[in-house]
Amino acid sequence: MSEIVLGVTGSIAAYKAAELVRVFVKAGHEVSVVMTAGATKFVTPLTFQTLSRRPVTTGLFEPDVVWEPNHISLAQRANVLVVAPCTANVIAKLAVGIADDALTATALACRAPLVVAPAMNDAMFEHPATQANIATLRSRGATIVEPASGELACGTTGKGRLAAIEDIAKAVLEVLAKTGDTTQ
Ligand SMILES: Cc1cc2nc3c(=O)[nH]c(=O)nc-3n(C[C@H](O)[C@H](O)[C@H](O)COP(=O)(O)O)c2cc1C
Repeated sequence: MSEIVLGVTGSIAAYKAAELVRVFVKAGHEVSVVMTAGATKFVTPLTFQTLSRRPVTTGLFEPDVVWEPNHISLAQRANVLVVAPCTANVIAKLAVGIADDALTATALACRAPLVVAPAMNDAMFEHPATQANIATLRSRGATIVEPASGELACGTTGKGRLAAIEDIAKAVLEVLAKTGDTTQ
C-alpha cells in the first residue's frame, strides 16, 4: 500500500480529480488530498474527504492535530506526489520553487517522485513560459501526463484538456512500481 498525496488546483477540471481519488482508493492506496484555494472554488473539500476517507488539507496555517506542520508530514509520508489537474500557475510555482500555499509548500518539502497532469486553455498551455516551466519539471525527473487535444471548457479547441483519468492513474502506478512499490 502506498501513500499518494494528490494536489488539486483551480482548474475547471478539478471535479475530475474526484474520480482519480476513487480509482486510487479502489487500488488499495492511501490518498491524502491537498487543495489550493482556487480548487475549493470548483469542488468542496467534503467531496475529497468523503472519497479519500481522510481529512483534506486546504490551508498552510491551519492548526494541526499533531505538533508537526501538516505540509511537512504529508511530504514525508508521500510515496508519490500527484498534481491533477495542475494549473499553469502551480506549474510555474513548482518550477521556481515557490511555496506560498499548502500544496506548493508540500511539494517543495517532498523528496518523492512528482507526477503533474496539466489542464488549461490551449494558449496558456502553449505559452513559452508554461512550456519552459514544464521542461524544467521534466528535467528534474517529474512525470508529465500530457493534456489531450479537443474542445476546451473555455469554448476553444486545442491542447489543454486534462488527460484521461486512466492515463493519469497508469502513470502514477508506473512511478510507484519503479520506486519499488508494486501495489496495483
Ligand atoms: C472558470 C475558470 C476556470 C479556470 N480553469 C483553469 C484551468 O483549467 N487551468 C488553469 O491553469 N487555470 C484556470 N483558471 C485560472 C486559475 O483558476 C487561476 O490562475 C488561479 O489563480 C489558480 O490558482 P491555483 O493555481 O493556486 O489553484 C480558471 C479560472 C476560472 C475562473
